[in-house]
Parts: sequence; structure tokens; C-alpha cells
Amino acid sequence: MIVAIDGPAASGKGTLAKRVAAHYGLPHLDTGLLYRAVARDALASAIDLDDAAGAAGVAEALEVATLADPDLRTAEIGEAASRVARHPAVRTVLLAYQRTFASAAPGAVLDGRDIGTVICPGADVKLFVSATPEVRALRRFLELTGRGVDISQEAVLADIRARDERDSTRGTAPLVQAKDAVLLDTSNLDIDAAFRAALDLIEAAMSRAGRAG
Ligand code: C5P
Repeated sequence: MIVAIDGPAASGKGTLAKRVAAHYGLPHLDTGLLYRAVARDALASAIDLDDAAGAAGVAEALEVATLADPDLRTAEIGEAASRVARHPAVRTVLLAYQRTFASAAPGAVLDGRDIGTVICPGADVKLFVSATPEVRALRRFLELTGRGVDISQEAVLADIRARDERDSTRGTAPLVQAKDAVLLDTSNLDIDAAFRAALDLIEAAMSRAGRAG
């Protein structure tokens, strides 16, 4: 079973994907980490984030073992990731790894922006997880300040809006709900309620597919 979970920054898709994967005993790939790692490596080599060929070269040399680096989670790297993610050449390099991950038995849960539309268009279940920018900003603000980061709620909201704009308007693989994805709005749900709702949607999709097949 392949489960595709897409959505904007701080929608809760990553936490949901992790829990869904654990529930079904499937491997999980947070695909945002791939773009974050490319951004980290580009910055470390002083490669201009707007240099498509340079960033694609960095993507080719990416060591996936380094995706566990906790420094990838910072707001700065998230911002830089959305800049390298605009380059079609970077996306092409990262596509093969994601498809290989998804197609290995017994399946996988992938979360990102273009899983249901580009990476796994034939996924068994597609969820599009969203919440209002204000709710997402508040969640991210609480997470960051909980980790001791000194930042204002306004700055976090501005970052979320900028990232939404960049991810939704880029020419290649923009953030968009796949036509056959189910929307899960988590604005009024805590993580446990969102997880239960996600499981209900997955079970419903699987039983529809079972009936059809
Ligand atoms: O999900 P996360 O915030 O870690 O993603 C960082 C950035 O990587 C996003 O803002 C987006 O630009 C990019 N990304 C992408 N496609 C994906 C996952 C992430 O373009 N599948």
C-alpha cells in the first residue's frame, strides 16, 4: 500500500505521516528532508540557491544517510529548501530516489508537496492535509519557542505565507491538491483527532478500492 500525504508547511502532515506509517508497519519518507538536505549542502559549498545546475549537482551528490541531521529542521533551511525546490533539475534528480522508496514492498508512506501529483500518481490513498495559515503559524511558533528559538508569531506567519506562495506558484510540481486526493482540514483538530480522521479516510479509500477491484 502506498499512502501519499501532501500539504503546506506546518499542516501537521509530517506527524500524521509518521503515525500512519507506524500504524500500518510501513516505511516513511519525509520528502521535505531531501530538499532541506540539498539546501544545507548547497549553503555549505557556497552554491547560489538560484543556480539550478549547481543545486542539481548538489542533489546528485546527496548522501541520504545525512537526512537524520537535526539541523535540517530550522526555519532558515526550510526557506532555503523552498528555493532549491523550484528548480526542475533538482526535482528530477530527487524523483528517482522517491519512486524507488515508494515502490519497494510492502509499500510506504511519503509526505511532501507533490507526492500525489508527481511522485506517486497511482498511490492507493492520497490525503491533502491543510489548516489555515494562522493555525499553522501558531503550531510552528509553539514548536520553535518550545525548542528555545527566539522568534515572534508574526515572523513565523510571514515565513509560512512566503513559503505557501513560493510552493504554490512555482512552475514545476507546485503544491496543489491532486484531483483524487481527500482533503483533511486539521484547523480544528488536535494531532490525535487528525490521526483518527486520517485512518478513517485511509480505511474508506482502501475499502472502496477493494470493492472496485
Ligand atoms: O515539508 P518541508 O517544510 O520540510 O519542506 C521544505 C521545502 O521543500 C518546502 O517548502 C518545499 O518547497 C520543498 N518540498 C517540495 N516537494 C516535496 C517536499 C518538500 O518541493 N515533496
